[in-house]
Amino acid sequence: MNENQPTREKLFSVSHRVDAAQRTRRNRHRGGILWLTGLSASGKSTLAVELELALFGMGCQVFMLDGDNVRHGLSADLGFSPADRAENIRRVGEVAALFAEAGTIVIAAFISPYRTDRDRIRARHPDYFHEIYLDAPIEVCERRDPKGLYRQARAGSLKEFTGVSAPYEPPFSPHLTIHTGAQTVDQSVKSLIDYVERRLRT
Ligand code: ADX
Repeated sequence: MNENQPTREKLFSVSHRVDAAQRTRRNRHRGGILWLTGLSASGKSTLAVELELALFGMGCQVFMLDGDNVRHGLSADLGFSPADRAENIRRVGEVAALFAEAGTIVIAAFISPYRTDRDRIRARHPDYFHEIYLDAPIEVCERRDPKGLYRQARAGSLKEFTGVSAPYEPPFSPHLTIHTGAQTVDQSVKSLIDYVERRLRT
């Protein structure tokens, strides 16, 4: 380690004078992370955008974090190897937890294909982390292929593509599963809003 870098033992914490309960009282909901995981084209971004709009309209503090957006900035230095995806998910998990601590409902839309990467966020932020599995068969995702990425992956011009040449590990016990291959967007958004009402509204 670089000797100019602080070691963890030399770091201190500063306390806030605004606490979580005060933020919750003002917002009328708790902060939390709605972590949408699923294959490419399973509907993560579509649902995240619609849910953000709906919750904002209901007066919630809400913000969407999306894989493609984050990879232009915060994770611009990362690719799609298992190690790079782990680091991407670690960073996003920590950023999302900061938003949640600020009282915001974060909608995180990331493939996040590895169980261990998702479980690490759950372990660090158990009160905030809600794992939501967008369960759509790969055949449906591949038929949709809105970005043409499955086609490129099958042709061999896109390496390490989730579901084709890289794994996707579904959650063992997600808080909520949405069958995005069988439901309309409106039906899926409704289940997500119901979940927020049950779990984050006060
Ligand atoms: S994750 O695996 O690290 O969670 P993330 O959700 O950030 O992935 O990014 C996925 C987006 O990157 C996809 O929506 C797609 O547009 C793009 N992408 C480019 N290359 C790949 C790849 N090899 N595998 C998956 N997604 C890719």
